[in-house]
Amino acid sequence: MSKEIHLIDKDFVPYISEEKILSRVKVLSSQIRADYGTNNVLFLSVLNGSFMFTSDLMKSMNGEVELSFIKLSSYEGTSTSGKVHELIGLNQNIQGRHIVILEDIVDTGLTVQRVITMLQMQNPLSIEVCTLLYKPEAFKGDTAPKYFGFKIPNKFVVGYGLDYDQLGRNFNEIYQLKD
Ligand code: IMP
Ligand code: MG
Repeated sequence: MSKEIHLIDKDFVPYISEEKILSRVKVLSSQIRADYGTNNVLFLSVLNGSFMFTSDLMKSMNGEVELSFIKLSSYEGTSTSGKVHELIGLNQNIQGRHIVILEDIVDTGLTVQRVITMLQMQNPLSIEVCTLLYKPEAFKGDTAPKYFGFKIPNKFVVGYGLDYDQLGRNFNEIYQLKD
């Protein structure tokens, strides 16, 4: 049995075990393969949070897949343009490709929506989202992610790639903020 962890000023309690995560990852990889048949799927993994999920999902996928890592950076533009978001790391042509975006968590959904909008400009054949965690109560988007590992309440979690102020990504299971 794993124990509580302490990061900076907060305590976290074990929430989703490694065993449960890995068994859901297997289900997701089978679903994706069943949906795409023998088609080659291009996974775009959004760094940093999804690195661990991506690794386990890739190890569980059969057939032809490709993987690239992308990152969404934001910087202050001019006063008229406000915040500017840029997709970095995508150095291949995605036109005509089946894309599956890999995310650690979809909370409000704004981050993944920005990624989708920028990818759509390059005319892929299809775009779906596969996220390990999904917080439906916080979600503000129109379409829920097609693939998700776990629906969770609107409460902060860390571990398995997810961080609290850059800490906690290294744990192999998911912890929830202690009440
Ligand atoms: P969004 O609200 O869906 O745009 O999510 C924005 C980002 O906030 C996610 O990609 C995560 O990096 C982070 N985030 C949201 N909820 C959590 C959480 O419970 N733990 C750790 N990071 C989170
Ligand atoms: Mg993230």
